[in-house]
Amino acid sequence: MNNLISMRDLSADKILQLLKLAESLEKNPNQIDLSRRVMAALFYEASTRTRMSFESAMKRLGGEVIAMVGTAGTSVEKGETLSDTARVMARYSDIIVMRHPNEGAARYVSEQVDVPVVNAGDGANQHPTQSLLDLYTIIRSQGTLEGLNLALIGDLKYGRTVHSLAYALAPFKPEFTFVSPKSLQMPKHILSDLRKMGIPFKEKTKLEKTVKDADIMYVTRIQRERFPDREEYEKVKNAYIITAEMLTNVKDNMKVLHPLPRVNEITTDVDDTQYAYYFDQAENGVYMRQAILATLLGEAK
Ligand code: CP
Repeated sequence: MNNLISMRDLSADKILQLLKLAESLEKNPNQIDLSRRVMAALFYEASTRTRMSFESAMKRLGGEVIAMVGTAGTSVEKGETLSDTARVMARYSDIIVMRHPNEGAARYVSEQVDVPVVNAGDGANQHPTQSLLDLYTIIRSQGTLEGLNLALIGDLKYGRTVHSLAYALAPFKPEFTFVSPKSLQMPKHILSDLRKMGIPFKEKTKLEKTVKDADIMYVTRIQRERFPDREEYEKVKNAYIITAEMLTNVKDNMKVLHPLPRVNEITTDVDDTQYAYYFDQAENGVYMRQAILATLLGEAK
């Protein structure tokens, strides 16, 4: 594993290795020493959890971080290209973690530099480190990844987390229900890939029975920033709002996940139920990102 760009690049064995290492690092973070290693965070787009959990992961393993937090105040404002910025950062660091609004940006950078590149989100395309921490969270809450019934809810068109997650779960015989407004359905190329892999899925516009059958409800924000037309966003922005009252007939083991940030799609009364698991999910980002950094830096034991 030289880079982490897309879930499609990872075998089931590699995923399981990363999950095992994340679990081991959660129990014993002192087993890996990344001192004298530097991580460059290149964030051309807003982030709270991904950037800061990567920073936390690196620092807790003894490493250092240099960060570009948005483009304001950097030479991107003077017109520097992504390629030039990345090639210089590769000389200042041992690994690049990058978020960019353009789909394919991380793969492009990985072809320009000699250090490992991690895709921390490229437009509406992929967010593989989120999916790996999601898998870790699912196995922690369900005891297995195999044969689960998952409802993916919200903005399935622009939501890179659900795109990555569909591929991440594919080796583990999932049953998907995709719940979205008609205008925000899962992209056709992903549905086509799932069909080819023999993964069963249903597409729905209403929640109803979906909630009752699910092991995991994976709720996503409607991604306002990716809509070309503000009016279209206004039409769908309140499409699904999960409340505690809606969770009265769900399975005992059911957990609500959300990559966060949330806007209004999960009301805060859900936080106090046994089903809320999104803050644990965010914490798991540190363990999984430690496993990713250690693996890509050749320090995984
Ligand atoms: N889940 C996620 O990517 O969160 P941030 O946008 O805050 O990094």
